[in-house]
Amino acid sequence: MNNLLNENKQWIDETWAKVEKKLKRVVGTAKYTIPSKTINGKYNDCSTEKAIGNWTNGFWPGIMWLMYDATGDEEFRESAEYGENALDMAQERFNCLHHDVGFMWLLSSVANYRVTGNEKSRNRALHAASILAARFNVNGKYIGAWQGERVCNWAIIDCMMNIPLLYWATEQMKNPSFKFIAMTHADTCMRNHVREDGSVNHIIEYDGITGEVLGKPSTQGFDVDSSWSRGQAWAIYGYVLSYIRTGEKRYLDVAKKVAHYFIAAVCSDGYIPKADFMQPDDQIDSSAGAIAACGMIEIAKAVPERESKLYLQAAINIMKALTEKQCDWSDEEDSILQNNSACWGEGVHISAMYGEYFYVEAMYKLKGFDKLFW
Ligand code: GLY
Repeated sequence: MNNLLNENKQWIDETWAKVEKKLKRVVGTAKYTIPSKTINGKYNDCSTEKAIGNWTNGFWPGIMWLMYDATGDEEFRESAEYGENALDMAQERFNCLHHDVGFMWLLSSVANYRVTGNEKSRNRALHAASILAARFNVNGKYIGAWQGERVCNWAIIDCMMNIPLLYWATEQMKNPSFKFIAMTHADTCMRNHVREDGSVNHIIEYDGITGEVLGKPSTQGFDVDSSWSRGQAWAIYGYVLSYIRTGEKRYLDVAKKVAHYFIAAVCSDGYIPKADFMQPDDQIDSSAGAIAACGMIEIAKAVPERESKLYLQAAINIMKALTEKQCDWSDEEDSILQNNSACWGEGVHISAMYGEYFYVEAMYKLKGFDKLFW
């Protein structure tokens, strides 16, 4: 693993320097905001009453904690803390919340607690973990995704990234229930979402009373039974995180299987993922590449040395392709990573904070920093 990092040291150092320079400029104007995307090159602000429940609201504080950990620059910490404080409004309102409390509080409060030991942050994250655990359906053995009569019984592959909040809560509270729920959900997803060929379904719809599987709709991919690339990426990173937090090898095996599918799908497209690997057109999703790269770097650390090159080389190939073709380093644009997709068919966003976060996290890992907020 180290050989490959050494061979790429110059590229990693130069790219990291550009990340630091750009974020240092941008935090100057975005410090007291929670951006989700740029509009005409400038970041918006979702720390408002209307947008505070937005699932992407942990990503900016998360970037700020990564940058604070890497540089010690107080401006990044101040911005992370602003975002975390603003998120209290979402916990108070409660009704605006969903299973993505994992994304929101792992990258704000858990990150703060891991870096500074702040007790208030610990309490916020434990509260969020309780909200997530309460979404568990006992008969179906899954965590429901959203609010609403039908969609509260949809389990979506993205949730694999939320359940590390439950592993963390068990570690903190010495209460195994949180971990039990997380592992039960991960096992259900393994049975119902992960296909034989290593691709994954986006959504499984359950009967909320009997727990029976009713269908496999897709809202973000090209079609039912197709392969929404960000969903594949959530599975890669989510399952390797479940392995890291539990030591259960079956989760590592699933992460590897989905990674093999992803690598096979991107290698013929210059390592830039399509929004859906089975779509008929050219719409891409940069964020899927950055998320998958983060997961592959963690797989490379988890497997024996003789296996790790496959995953680390693929992660580096993806990050190099994104850096060369999809990044904007100019002062006219606040975001770095461009061409992130929300859903197949809805065109591409110029920027999206989920893509930005995972691009920065992947570069942070390649640079050799090793805090894992998840
Ligand atoms: N978790 C929502 C998404 O990936 O779009």
